[in-house]
Amino acid sequence: MTMPRVAIVSLGGTISMAKKVDAGVVPNLDAESLVTSLPELRAIAEIKTVPFRMVASSGLKFSDLLALREELDNLLKNEVDAVVVTQGTDTIEETSFLLNLTIQSDKPVVVTGAMRDPTTPGSDGQANLIAALRVAVSGFTSGLGTVVVMNDDIHHSRYVKKTHTSNPAAFSSFPLGPIGWISEDRVRIALKPATERFRITVDAGSPEKEVLLFTVSLGDSGRLLGHAGEFGYDGIILEAMGAGHVYPSILDTLEKLASIMPVVFASRTRNGEVLEKTYSFRGSESDLLKRGLISARSLDPLKARILLYLLLRSGRSKEEIRNVFNNWT
Ligand code: SIN
Repeated sequence: MTMPRVAIVSLGGTISMAKKVDAGVVPNLDAESLVTSLPELRAIAEIKTVPFRMVASSGLKFSDLLALREELDNLLKNEVDAVVVTQGTDTIEETSFLLNLTIQSDKPVVVTGAMRDPTTPGSDGQANLIAALRVAVSGFTSGLGTVVVMNDDIHHSRYVKKTHTSNPAAFSSFPLGPIGWISEDRVRIALKPATERFRITVDAGSPEKEVLLFTVSLGDSGRLLGHAGEFGYDGIILEAMGAGHVYPSILDTLEKLASIMPVVFASRTRNGEVLEKTYSFRGSESDLLKRGLISARSLDPLKARILLYLLLRSGRSKEEIRNVFNNWT
């Protein structure tokens, strides 16, 4: 029987941080080192190792991720049956969603990392890597989009969130749960997305865009927001209070900004859909909609920012962007 071919593509992150500098660890293990330290992996698949970046995930840029997308699509088209990406967990909820929206291939794409570095007792990197590889070779996530495997759970990138600073069970897909799990060497998928994967094609040579994420907070004047246009931002994600609420003092600024760029409001609760027509006070969700802002619906601010960035990068107009968000489920 021929073994499935899988590329393990390393970006850095805690899973690769085995070297101490001063008081803490820094990334230094590439994909080949990770695979060599865990010989069981080569009993599961024929592995190609690809050292792609060596950074903490907070240092990743959109240019890195668009280059990663291209690299993964090339590997999936020409060389392998599935890919596993290893990276830092701090931005996994953003990077995996970006891959989900941009990858052209329908073959399995699995992202994993570690909450505890390899020098720490109880480190989870090897367990996560072997679980991710098992998911990749199972083929069960073909056509489902990018998934994140952590702590023996399989999360869909559309929902996954990092919800704890250090606990190995840091990942949640609330209000849903994981779409599946790994038990011993068995991979189980219990849920599948009900809608088609939305795909965006971004030309790597297209002009860079910048999306501001602005959190609305009690007692703030919102002065900074007034300068978003002159600072050169191309779009704004407003992390509004509760169901989509802001203080009245920034309404005129928001209305003006919304006339020149997409301004999308999501909830800083990071849970639940922003409302449309329940409240009508000044600064309520219905007021924001009347003033031309766009609802992020059920997308949390971080996912909404990735979607808005990609839509801007792909050259969509404000009305086309509004349409995408309005039809989002
Ligand atoms: C990082 O995101 O690179 C650091 C933290 C982690 O990997 O868990």
